Amino acid sequence: MACLPVSDEQLERAAALLRTGGIVAFPTETVYGLGAVAFDGLAVARIFEIKARPRFDPLIVHVADRQQLAQCVIDVPPVAERLIAAFWPGPLTLVLRKCEAIGSLLTGGLATVAVRMPSHPVARALLERTGSPIAAPSANPFGGLSPTRAEHVAAALGDRVDMILDGGPTEYGLESSIILIEPTPTLLRHGAIPVEQIEAVIGPVQRDIPPGSATLAPGRLPHHYAPHTPLRLIAPERVPMQERTEAASLAFRRVQSGYRAALALSPSGDLRIAAAHLFDALHRLDAAGATRIDVEPVPESGLGSAIMDRLTRGSAR
Ligand code: TXA
Ligand code: MG
Repeated sequence: MACLPVSDEQLERAAALLRTGGIVAFPTETVYGLGAVAFDGLAVARIFEIKARPRFDPLIVHVADRQQLAQCVIDVPPVAERLIAAFWPGPLTLVLRKCEAIGSLLTGGLATVAVRMPSHPVARALLERTGSPIAAPSANPFGGLSPTRAEHVAAALGDRVDMILDGGPTEYGLESSIILIEPTPTLLRHGAIPVEQIEAVIGPVQRDIPPGSATLAPGRLPHHYAPHTPLRLIAPERVPMQERTEAASLAFRRVQSGYRAALALSPSGDLRIAAAHLFDALHRLDAAGATRIDVEPVPESGLGSAIMDRLTRGSAR
């Protein structure tokens, strides 16, 4: 554990806080999470309160190993086993049938639980030291921008959490991909693992939730991941110069001129780099005092699908 960005003492203090009902924000390879011991009903209730999260929107449970996984789910169907072999530890969340020990507050009353095994060394060390699965949604107020740096968590929730572990900027910058396993493998959220890679392992997955089954995907709200400043998805060439002066711009490759603040996600057009910069760029532009943020669409393949999912929801009013 020589090159962990947080010290042994900090990890020990965080684990002790969690074991006694505390709430600790910690880095994962995707975004920062707001953690509580998954079996501690009171601490889980505090997470909902701190985030102002609706009770119907369940949390993701993080596990260190198979033993912790077995404390959360009834069984692991063969399709899930193949995904685990291919992608864990890493940014893939599986929705499986929950055990008794997982409370219904955590799952929003569903019979299933979302679980993932993170790869981030700080998240893993925290899970091991705490000795229990940790429930953690993204560490942002409900509906807002996800945090990819400890500073984002401190600015939005700093006074309401017991501790923030600072592991620096996160690697992927986008939340995990979520797959519902039964009855049919279904993509519930585009995320850090492109759906094409998932399909290469288990074959085609359903991508549309049938109408009327909203309870299968309670978190798929049209308005989510939004900055305070209104967001507009638009090709830069369609914005006249006189409309730029009070606005901010987030371009894909090339910084746009004439805006009061402007950033580009990846000059080389690399979607992985774009994803890693997305939320941090939006946090920065949101603080620029602009009337609006114009965002350039990115190509919708691979990670581009997850980036466009966040931008489409972030711009919905
Ligand atoms: O990368 C991530 O997944 C991050 C890090 C911290 O691990 N976590 C995260 O959690 O993004 P959160 O709470 O922001 O998003 C969890 C999503 C929600 O949309 C929720 O509705 C969905 O997972 N979810 C949780 N349990 C579910 C279940 N049993 N069935 C269907 N969807 C579920
Ligand atoms: Mg979230």
